[in-house]
Amino acid sequence: MSMSAQVLVSDAKQDGLQFVTELAREAAQHRAANHPYLEALAAGDVPDPAGALADLARQYYVYSADFVRYLSATIGQLEYLPHRAALVRNLTEESGVLSEHELEEVKAAGVDPAWVQGVPHPVLFRRFLDALGMTEAWLSDNPPCDDAVIWSRTFHQCCTAGGPAQAVGALGLGTELIVPQIYRPILRAIIEHLDVSPRERVFFDLHTTVDDAHGEVLLEIAADLAMQAEHRAPLRLGMQMALHLRSAFFDAMHRRALAMPMREVK
Ligand SMILES: [Fe+2]
Repeated sequence: MSMSAQVLVSDAKQDGLQFVTELAREAAQHRAANHPYLEALAAGDVPDPAGALADLARQYYVYSADFVRYLSATIGQLEYLPHRAALVRNLTEESGVLSEHELEEVKAAGVDPAWVQGVPHPVLFRRFLDALGMTEAWLSDNPPCDDAVIWSRTFHQCCTAGGPAQAVGALGLGTELIVPQIYRPILRAIIEHLDVSPRERVFFDLHTTVDDAHGEVLLEIAADLAMQAEHRAPLRLGMQMALHLRSAFFDAMHRRALAMPMREVK
């Protein structure tokens, strides 16, 4: 490659990076990432904070249990092998395999590695539901609300039906990049209002630390894709779709929480 061609490539890379950095800023400021429902939960500003958190756990599980399907769908859309390989590493982590570096990170966050190493993330979420008394039988007696099912199904379609840039926009910029910001107030509310141990709620501690790295990987893939002008609109559309869906889900959860009877103070 000639000197001037190299300069052109790095200019294009720089442009791609700048484009996704602006999108990331837009995502962090979106209602989905700063939702009044999350603020209300963290402040205990709903009639029954523990009841609202239990409802959130049951409904969020519908979306969360299928996370590997969204990630696999996104991997399937990608054409460039190193991009796929990078996301396969995220997939490995979702199945509970943590690298040395990540183990150090979780330890620093106060998590005992034995609680998480080798445990797939959907199983960690089930551990949390178990702690709240939500057994398999309870779950089948208490089916999810339409809002949770619609969110999960539509989000899966975002990752399958719109090409690689839309999928990366949805899963990366519109999801992984903002989830630590979303899980932080939820974790605060859990610690404040639920009687669960750190081991039982570890799904949330884990996702306020390790998914920061997941977001980074997707941000780099997004920046590569954004080097080509035709990928920019679908990157932003995928991001907006994911944020819009999540925001609509939180709106519904907020309405459900506000409609609950006041918890009696014992
Ligand atoms: Fe996860």
